[in-house]
Amino acid sequence: GCVKEYGSEDTENTVDENLIVVGVSQVGSESVWRTANTASIQNILTKENGYFMIFNNARQKQENQIKALRSFISQRVDYIVFSPITEDGWETVLQEAKEAGIPVILIDRKVNLSDQSLYTTWIGSDFYKEGRMAGNILDEYLTKQHRQEVSIRIVVLQGTEGATATIGRTNGFNEVAEAHENWLILEQADGEFTTAKGQEEMEMLLHRYKDIDVVISQNDDMTFGALTAIQNAGLTAGEDGDIMVISFDAVKSGLQLVDEGLVTADIECNPNQGEYVETVIRKLENNEAVAKLYFVPETVFTKENVKDALEKRTY
Ligand code: AHR
Repeated sequence: GCVKEYGSEDTENTVDENLIVVGVSQVGSESVWRTANTASIQNILTKENGYFMIFNNARQKQENQIKALRSFISQRVDYIVFSPITEDGWETVLQEAKEAGIPVILIDRKVNLSDQSLYTTWIGSDFYKEGRMAGNILDEYLTKQHRQEVSIRIVVLQGTEGATATIGRTNGFNEVAEAHENWLILEQADGEFTTAKGQEEMEMLLHRYKDIDVVISQNDDMTFGALTAIQNAGLTAGEDGDIMVISFDAVKSGLQLVDEGLVTADIECNPNQGEYVETVIRKLENNEAVAKLYFVPETVFTKENVKDALEKRTY
């Protein structure tokens, strides 16, 4: 591939003019999922496929993303692809992109805008549906265990505050939880989508609350940390253990935990958005219409269907 960090030199003097120049602004590298998402984009926006990609990793800071977007605009890229860390605060810079005539393709997370014409297309997951799926699968397991009448004490490890993934998963799960009088959400803690913070928050929650029955962990990385905390507290995780753990993403190491029975269900979040991005750019190049939203396909993994997926997972 042909990867260039922004800010190194002026692309215009060096780029083959037949190549389509795409500025890609990624949130960071906070999770295994994120790394897979980045790879999916980098593997398709290659010179062989007719692209010149300028990639920037914002290291979890919105100000870095805004800087990267401005740099793409001043380099007059043909397209901007970006995953916004949080939903708010993009109106001004996206207005600048629009004025420069650069189409913006959002991936993964959404932006909160009053003017929807400030982006061309969004490609990503139905996070709200993922949250609901977590609630529904928990309901299934509790029903199987005949625990519909007893009180179920739940803690939630949330991802980055203000991010679409966090908002959707929280709202979706809460909606299912509200329909069950015996489910009690003790606390929603901010684990920032990282293993270190997931462990730290889980340690605090275990300290603060007795008899936690269920952990809803909004990504696999936080789940790795939470499991360490659970084990260090002398407790067991799993369907038949002290604490039932439900996770999101379904990366290979998450699916491994499902197979081992430590994680009861892993709600898939599909990072393979590169092909969609490339298809959208190709259509735009040919003046074809594109949809405003593209949802990537996703499923739920439990012990029953994990084996096959685990063998095939590449990330
Ligand atoms: O926005 C997608 C979420 O961001 C993934 O669930 C998480 O792992 C990543 O950091």
